[in-house]
Amino acid sequence: MARRRIIAGNWKMNKTPSEAVALCEELKDLVKNDDVDVVYCVPAIDIVPVVNAVKGTNVHVGAENFYIVDSGAFTGEISAPMLKDAGVEYIIIGHSERRDIFGENDILINQKVKKAFASGLTPILCCGESLALRKADTYKEWIERQITWDLDGVTADQVKKLVIAYEPIWAIGTGETATADQAEEVCKLIRELIAKLYDQATADEVRIQYGGSMNAGNAAELLSKPNIDGGLIGGASLKADFGKIVNA
Ligand code: G3P
Repeated sequence: MARRRIIAGNWKMNKTPSEAVALCEELKDLVKNDDVDVVYCVPAIDIVPVVNAVKGTNVHVGAENFYIVDSGAFTGEISAPMLKDAGVEYIIIGHSERRDIFGENDILINQKVKKAFASGLTPILCCGESLALRKADTYKEWIERQITWDLDGVTADQVKKLVIAYEPIWAIGTGETATADQAEEVCKLIRELIAKLYDQATADEVRIQYGGSMNAGNAAELLSKPNIDGGLIGGASLKADFGKIVNA
């Protein structure tokens, strides 16, 4: 089944609005590719219109976090409807940094997945194991548990629109990229799990990314694998090299 490639930059907590304009101008021609969905996931809602104004035609804007209610006495938080109204299309949910630094568990992440869909946003749902679980060879069970819990109550039609990002924690920001075979093994496992939880048609449609030190040098091999439909890119999304990953 041919699935449309999706390359998303997770800017994390980087780029002021003026720096975002400069990066978008630098990338505009470099990320042109009619066969790829390109996404910039930005850290704050005030950057969304700035990026939307200069991003170029084939780029979509994403965000990195929201709280699960629409409005109320939650100082400092932002809601999914606010992101949608600002022009956000994709939303990263369950990133290991949200799980480990901010204590988000699978119950909250499942609520966020359902809220995102209800608000018209497309989730990029992250999963991945620690180095300890990789070394203990229990990473497969861990990832199956994450995805099973995170998708509780999510419909097959919603999963067909979902993006899942496999991001081994030991590869994030370390330069220790998973080998293409390691990445394919887990992305294939995730697709087989979706077939079990839902059906083969849903498993064939869901897009699965790899993330974790993907860069211009290793993107082509990773993206050549049959169950890897794209990448979720951190550090390399903040510079011109991101265009080489989009066109790998
Ligand atoms: O969400 C993507 C991110 O976690 C990967 O970061 O810097 O290893 O590409 P990086």
